[in-house]
Amino acid sequence: MSHEDTPKGAKITFQVDGRACEGFHHESLLGALRRLGFEVPSLCFHEAVSTYGACRLCLVEVQKGRKSRITTSCNFPVTAGLQVRLDTPAVQQNRKIVFQLLLAKAPASPEVRALAAEYGVHSTPYKVSEEAKDNKCILCGLCARVCTEVVGANAIAFSGRGSHKDMVAPYDEAAEACIGCGACVEVCPTHCIGLRETPEIRTIEKWHRDLPLQKCEKCGRPFAPTFQLMTLGKRVGMKLSDFKVCNDCR
Ligand code: SF4
Ligand code: SF4
Ligand code: FES
Repeated sequence: MSHEDTPKGAKITFQVDGRACEGFHHESLLGALRRLGFEVPSLCFHEAVSTYGACRLCLVEVQKGRKSRITTSCNFPVTAGLQVRLDTPAVQQNRKIVFQLLLAKAPASPEVRALAAEYGVHSTPYKVSEEAKDNKCILCGLCARVCTEVVGANAIAFSGRGSHKDMVAPYDEAAEACIGCGACVEVCPTHCIGLRETPEIRTIEKWHRDLPLQKCEKCGRPFAPTFQLMTLGKRVGMKLSDFKVCNDCR
């Protein structure tokens, strides 16, 4: 059977550093490597959403037939007979440059610094611009993918291009479509979005969004943003009055 005829998801065999491994036709190579217990650095991959190939850290060397090349593994499909090498000199050299670029892009991120140090990169030869000095965001887009593909809120997006590219709420004002679920905060690899709560308000800092919290009628504790309950309730035909008590008191 040729690769074109192999159904997506069919079990296939491929090789990692000379070891025969089982995978599924056309699954993400990085996903397969993770499942098999191999270590590959990455910052922008999440099984729950589409891949975007933004951080460029998940580099591996792949060989099919005689041709070998360096590629990001998160957006590379596994196929039968693929040979993968994880830590060749070419991978190490390219990965070092990617780490150096990330250190210049997000110099204030402890997560980027820690991961780079794990791979022996402690500084960058690239110029850190004045605007980037306090930056922690690596522009991986994971927050927006989760918001759109999982939450369905579509509240945030990239703006600008080149050195002006940024991940922001529309017009950099309060993101009106944000329901305050916190999913983006959870997945952000550099923890740079920020969620704050008082007994009354949940604030998603990076998106300038303040959301009043609904209080449980039984225990009085705030349990979710009112707007989140209204929005998600509407999707399943429920009203705000259907959410009077928190999960613990139900
Ligand atoms: S907190 Fe707001 S921006 Fe973040 S995933 Fe939820 S709805 Fe989207
Ligand atoms: S805020 Fe976080 S998840 Fe969003 S683009 Fe920046 S680093 Fe990625
Ligand atoms: S995990 Fe592959 S490019 Fe980020």
